[in-house]
Amino acid sequence: MNFHVLTLFPEMILEGCNNSILKRAIEKELLTVDAVNIRDFTLEKHGKVDDYTYGGGAGMLMQAQPVYDAWLHVTGNTDGNNINDNAAVANDVMKADGASEQKKKPRTIYMTPQGRVFTQEVAKELAKEEDLIILCGHYEGIDERVLDEIVTDRISIGDYVLTGGELPALVMIDAISRLVPGVLGSEESAQTESFENDLLEYPQYSRPEVWHGKAVPEVLLTGDHKKIEAWRREAAKERTKIWRPDLYEKYAEKEQTIKRLMKQKKENAYLIDSLLKGKAKLLHTMGNAAVALGINGITYMICCETKEEGEALLAYVPKDAKVVLHNCAELNDLIDERYNLQVGDECYQSVYTQHTAMPIAHKDIRPYPISEIDYAVENYGGEQEREYLRDRILKGEFFAAYENDEIAGFCGVHAGGSLGLLYVDPKYRRTSIGSSLASYLVNWSLERGGLPYAHIRVKNIASLKMQEKMGLYVGKRTIFWTYRKEKEEE
Ligand code: ADE
Repeated sequence: MNFHVLTLFPEMILEGCNNSILKRAIEKELLTVDAVNIRDFTLEKHGKVDDYTYGGGAGMLMQAQPVYDAWLHVTGNTDGNNINDNAAVANDVMKADGASEQKKKPRTIYMTPQGRVFTQEVAKELAKEEDLIILCGHYEGIDERVLDEIVTDRISIGDYVLTGGELPALVMIDAISRLVPGVLGSEESAQTESFENDLLEYPQYSRPEVWHGKAVPEVLLTGDHKKIEAWRREAAKERTKIWRPDLYEKYAEKEQTIKRLMKQKKENAYLIDSLLKGKAKLLHTMGNAAVALGINGITYMICCETKEEGEALLAYVPKDAKVVLHNCAELNDLIDERYNLQVGDECYQSVYTQHTAMPIAHKDIRPYPISEIDYAVENYGGEQEREYLRDRILKGEFFAAYENDEIAGFCGVHAGGSLGLLYVDPKYRRTSIGSSLASYLVNWSLERGGLPYAHIRVKNIASLKMQEKMGLYVGKRTIFWTYRKEKEEE
């Protein structure tokens, strides 16, 4: 992840990143922080970058020219590290097989008290970018014309006014960096913490067992992980209810919705799983129907039984939506008409409804090594899938089965959460490798508190048969991935 900070005080940014975890991450080349001095780009001979505001008023304004030229320097540099190239391959669409990838322009974030408020959710969204340009203002702000041209997001760190954007930029860099794989010592510590699933983090204790007469809760000494997990969940709920009733309300609404959606697990699995894993934000619930937005900020998910329900839920989907996933055939015409989105994939949904892990015959299944990406590309969709597969591998959601130290097949979790990406080398077909890979994915999802499910294109009869043989239930209704298809038709 590369941060490019446009600022009048580069030393503030560099010093802020030169300690503790950020320092180590930069040394390990997991992050780069490039602080670009806007003053270096002014054409004014005395180095001035600000001037009075038209129309009068107190204070000075940063002028458009030096800001724009500093931005051009970052976005159009010629040293082989042009961030436009990196951004073009960003791939965070919740992807069904064959769904088109979205191209994005580089994110340029202006730190301002007038922006949307920075939260853990925004941090997660931004952590998916390869490059982020952060623009720090000073004085009374920056000439609006250059902001209009270069800024993609305006972000505030809270409802108070600071003297400049550098401290907010550092806050954001810190919160985002710790979500980059490898920056924190253990992946887990970035997962089970405050704001995951709308709950605050549970209380924690270290040695000694008794301090100031206060003993550590007994359950934590039992070594019984299930009981400890249950205790922690309750404790997290309890403190959220007391300290952050606003958050708790959101949490309770989500739990209720999941319960109602569970009445039709086989039809609603994609939404249930996304909500359970904190991968979607609930937008509205209506009886047993609901609409949510995936944390990629792109995929809208609707679960409903009737066209009327679906139509009412579409009111929460903006006009410029790019991907709508739903389970109501009668909605397709309306989605086409209103959003110009067509059915790209019609799939059956298979669901593992038990809570117990599946047996796995083939034992040697491990995270897929990035050094072997060519094998995956060759056997799963070719070059056009390289970036997607790379993303899956680097996120630790792609796995290889080994036989005699050679890759015999692979499987993975799609960015949208469905299980699949399954391939078995011809040499190892009709062995237990295929079903072992599929079971491995089911267990992987269960361990993360999800509802394991897969999307299988309606024509893929062989795969449907395999799912049923493995004990997964296939829903009666199909689900629809809708997205713009013009490009394919041209
Ligand atoms: N610049 C000044 N105050 C700010 C705030 N609260 N958030 C982001 N940028 C700012």
